Parts: sequence; C-alpha cells; structure tokens
Amino acid sequence: MNIKGLAAVVLAAGKGTRMKSALPKVLHRLNGQPMVHYPVQQAAVLGCRPTVLVIGHGGEEVKAHLQGRELEFALQEQQLGTGHALLSAQPALNQFSGDLLLLCGDVPLLRQKTLQSLLDYHRSEGVAATVLTARLAEPKGYGRILRDADGVLGIVEEKDATEKQKAVREINTGIYIFSAPRIFEILSSLGCDNAQGEYYLTDVLAVLRSQGHRVAALVLDDPAEAMGINSRVQLAEAAAIMRQRINERLMLDGVTLIDPAATYVDEQVEIGADTIIHPGVSLWGMTRIGQGCVIEPGVTVTDCQVGDQVRLKAGSVLEDSRIGSHSDVGPMAHLRPGTVLVGHNKIGNFVETKKATIGEGSKASHLTYIGDAELGARVNIGCGTITCNYDGVNKHKTIIEDEVFVGSDTQFVAPVRIGRNSLIGAGSTITKDVPANSLALSRSPQKTIENWVLRKRKKDS
Ligand code: UD1
Ligand code: CA
Repeated sequence: MNIKGLAAVVLAAGKGTRMKSALPKVLHRLNGQPMVHYPVQQAAVLGCRPTVLVIGHGGEEVKAHLQGRELEFALQEQQLGTGHALLSAQPALNQFSGDLLLLCGDVPLLRQKTLQSLLDYHRSEGVAATVLTARLAEPKGYGRILRDADGVLGIVEEKDATEKQKAVREINTGIYIFSAPRIFEILSSLGCDNAQGEYYLTDVLAVLRSQGHRVAALVLDDPAEAMGINSRVQLAEAAAIMRQRINERLMLDGVTLIDPAATYVDEQVEIGADTIIHPGVSLWGMTRIGQGCVIEPGVTVTDCQVGDQVRLKAGSVLEDSRIGSHSDVGPMAHLRPGTVLVGHNKIGNFVETKKATIGEGSKASHLTYIGDAELGARVNIGCGTITCNYDGVNKHKTIIEDEVFVGSDTQFVAPVRIGRNSLIGAGSTITKDVPANSLALSRSPQKTIENWVLRKRKKDS
C-alpha cells in the first residue's frame, strides 16, 4: 500500500440516450479515437495506478475496444447515479489508499496540464476533496457550486436547486479528487432522496464538510475544457475544438496547413517542419511525418513512418507502412500494411503494395500489385505488373534483385526469384526462377498474316 498513491476512476456506464446510437456513447470517435480514450490516456500520463473504468451500457463492447490498455474494469449493472457508479469501482480499489481522481468517459477536452494543476492544488491545500469547476455565462443543466468562507459547502443539482441557487454561475465539471478509502465509506452511506431518485456523487462534498473536513475547488481558465458530450452536435463541436488545438500546435511548430478546418490529425501524430498539408488529409494513429513533405488532398495515413521530402499525392491511402525519404507516392496509390519503401522510390497511380520491401530508387509507376515481395535497388516495374502471391491456400513470395527491369504486363507466379540485372520481356508470365543478367520471355511468338482482313471481307460479301 502506498500512502501517496494516485488512482483514477473513469465513469462510462451511462447509456448516452441522446446520441441515438447502437454504439455505446463513449465509443463514438473524436478525431480518430473513441471518446473514452482521452480520459483513459490522461490518467495513464498522470501515472494513475490503477485506472478503473466503470462500464455498464454496452460494457462488453467498450471493454473489447480497450483491450491491451493498463486498465481495470468495474461493472455497474444498473445505472443508479454517479455516486453508485463510483461505488461500483470499490472492489477494484480495495487495496488502494491515496488520492483518487474521478474522470468522466464523455469529457474529452480536459488538458493534461489542467489535471496536473488539479492534483497539485489538491495536495498543496491538504483538503479532503477538490472539485474542478467552471464559471459559465449559461450554467443551465449543471450542478451548482455552493461556497462559504471555508471553501466548498456542497453541490446542488439543477433539478434540486432553488431559484437563488440556480443563479450561481460556478458549475461542477464532474471531475474531482477524493481520498480513498474514505470516499467509499461515505458513498456506502448515501441516500437517493432527490429529484432524480439517484445516488449523487455530488452529495459526498456536503457530507465531508459536515464531518469537519475541508473541500476545495479549482476554477478552469478555459470553460471549454469541461464540455461533456451528450449528442452528436456536441460531438462535432468538441471534435472541432480538439482539431483546432492540434492544428494550432502543428502550425506553431512549422507545419503549413492550407485549410486547418479541413485537416484531421490525431493528437499523437508528429510532423516535421516545412511539411505542407492540403485540405481533406487525415493522419491517424502512431503516424510520424518527416520534414519538407507535401501531402496532397484526400490522403489518409494510418500508423505510418514517413521520411523527409516525401510527396504523398492526392487520394492515396497508406496503412502501417514505412516510406523512405525522397519518395513519391500516388495519386491514388494504396500502401497496405507491411510496405517498406527504402527511399527515393516512386509508387505511381493505382499501385497497390502489401508486405513488400521496395529497395532504394526502385519504381512502380502505374497500375501494379506488389504483394509478399522483396525488391532490390533500382528495380523498374512496368505498368500492369502483378505478383501472383496467392494460390488459393497459401501466400508465396516474389524476390526481384537489384536493377531488374520488368516489362509491362508481367505476372510473377510466386514463389519466384529474379536474379540481379535481368530483363523480363513485356507480357510475360514468369513461373520459374531467372538467373542474374538474363532475358526471360514467356509470350508466344507473334504471327502476322498480311492482307488477312481484306481477304476476309471479300469472302463475307
Ligand atoms: C453530473 C453531476 C453534475 C455536473 C455534471 C457535469 C451528479 C449527480 N451530477 O451530472 O453536478 O455538473 O455531471 O457534466 O453527479 N454515469 C455512470 N453511471 C450512472 C450515472 C452516470 O457511469 O449510474 C456516468 C455517465 O456515463 C457519465 C457520468 O457518469 O460519464 C456523468 O453522468 P451524467 O448522467 O451525464 O451526469 P449529469 O446528470 O450530467
Ligand atoms: Ca443524470
């Protein structure tokens, strides 16, 4: 047991009725990530251990989406209110003693530094609980903060508030730090005698005060951080705010965005200086783009490492691939998982690659499929070339060594190996290995019958 420990609980059991969706609310995506990713990630960055996600509606689906994260799950079978939701996390925290951060699965815009300030403030004040608040011009719908000279007195929900209390502009964001295990003792004694008949987490603060403890509040500088998402209208608003934050950071770091409102970049994507990004570009996941690149309209890149001075031309789709520096890709190229362009490559229009290493300076400029292949350096792949990698049961490899020239409309029936500096005649179906420095041809000799058309016409008339 660690007295100075920090753990987190993320509430995500609610139904999200207003989304009008078969998908659980917290799995709706915000800039490439399900909403619940953001609080879970923030808890991880703060070093919370453990982080417990309270699931209920669509719980199994939520759990499946978060496989592989360092998370514990607590099931709240019936949604009886926020107090009941936190109490559901108690079994997962019965070994824990320390500061307990409470986050909501549908509040994705909090900044990491805000949560760090909340924690620092809580610890420096030495209080029993700290609530994160915001001052809103239009506080309707939120719980209101009631204060006295000693700090926070309690929180009253809109539905339970008097007219005078409704006039309070300081609202509860629903984010707090409590002390565990004390919070659980209080939660188990809470009633649900209120307008909604729910167990309110907010009631805990007044109980702490009545027991002689102090409760503090930290007011947000930017109330937008507190935005909770209940509908798809708010989802789009929050996504726009998030994009704006990310895109401003990119521009300040030296990236040109032709139209920031139409540029979609995941928060963890890195982009080098002097890269230019055209409208309608999406950069997702663990993508890293180097310096001086140009990314043309409609390009989607997911989980790729892109070097410097690369041009990704319009409409190309790249997944889980590595693009070496000084390469040109597209327009309309599809680089599927496992593609490695070593550098100075040209992959042209309507070229598809998969599990393929393309050596330094090699080119496939038009209409080609390269799958399960290894290409050496300075290979030229002619238009319409296909690696026939699949026999209906197994995948086989095509190996093409350095400086091979492949004529147009060639099929490589794998497994097959082409030795260095060989030449494959256009229109060939290559089924056998070719040694180095050879010419391989498999087309049938051309037959030309002179004046055949004229003779045929005469016969037919
Ligand atoms: C809550 C607060 C309110 C605050 C507002 C901020 C209470 C009683 N009220 O109100 O003071 O201003 O958040 O957005 O806490 N959840 C569960 N299980 C439940 C109920 C809720 O997991 O049984 C989860 C929801 O999925 C959501 C979060 O808790 O992530 C908040 O619940 P919600 O019903 O949206 O709370 P509000 O009524 O908005
Ligand atoms: Ca509610």
